Amino acid sequence: MRIILLGAPGAGKGTQAQFITEKFGIPQISTGDMLRAAVKAGTPLGLQAKGIMEAGKLVSDDLIIALVKERIAEADCANGFLFDGFPRTIPQAQALLDADVHIDHVLEIAVDDEEIVKRLSGRRVHEGSGRVYHVVYNPPKSEGVDDVTGEALVQRSDDTEATVRKRLAVYHEQTAPLVGFYRELEVRSPEAAPKYSKVMGVGSMDEIRDKVIEALS
Ligand code: AP5
Repeated sequence: MRIILLGAPGAGKGTQAQFITEKFGIPQISTGDMLRAAVKAGTPLGLQAKGIMEAGKLVSDDLIIALVKERIAEADCANGFLFDGFPRTIPQAQALLDADVHIDHVLEIAVDDEEIVKRLSGRRVHEGSGRVYHVVYNPPKSEGVDDVTGEALVQRSDDTEATVRKRLAVYHEQTAPLVGFYRELEVRSPEAAPKYSKVMGVGSMDEIRDKVIEALS
């Protein structure tokens, strides 16, 4: 099972990814988490990505494509994977096609921009695992600490309102056109096209999980 989770920043991709990877026994490949790990480790990639991410812009296609190709060649991806936050531009999607990486399903999670702004201001994350919480909608058992490790939760530096609005603008301009890209592929080259589904990402996380699992099953 090879799945792409598509959706605006804060649509709930990371939240739903936790359920999907458990259900299908496949690894989550989050390019955002990989970049944040590189920034934290101070690698050359991290040094290049840091300012771009803080400004809410996209890291260059070449860097991201190389990162993903390396990751999917690892042994745990042999039976499939879940892309979370990739592809994010038409050149990234085209690179998958050019490399003959067949995708089974593209699942879009749709949420309005204003709801997203509210959600991201309350998001807290556990940096080590990528586990995601919300101070109101999905609080940890003890305030400010991860349920599993007991380590401190942090607020992402790109979750300020101004940067969230910038990220949303970038999403509408560069990532949303991927829906049309995959729709067109269904017509042009049905054998290469993944199945496309869309679920509305508003409601309880459990309700959305059920809709997501149903769409993928
Ligand atoms: P990335 O880390 O991918 O961030 P993103 O796409 O902006 O998505 P988020 O992680 O912010 O949101 P999400 O949809 O996972 O939502 P979540 O589940 O956390 O990318 C960061 C940056 O890295 C980019 O800006 C770019 O610079 C760079 N980058 C990454 N990939 C790239 C690529 N391919 N190409 C170029 N650059 C790239 O949920 C959000 C909050 O809402 C949480 O608090 C959660 O608890 C809460 N929530 C979830 N579901 C619900 C619900 N149903 N009701 C209420 N609250 C909910």
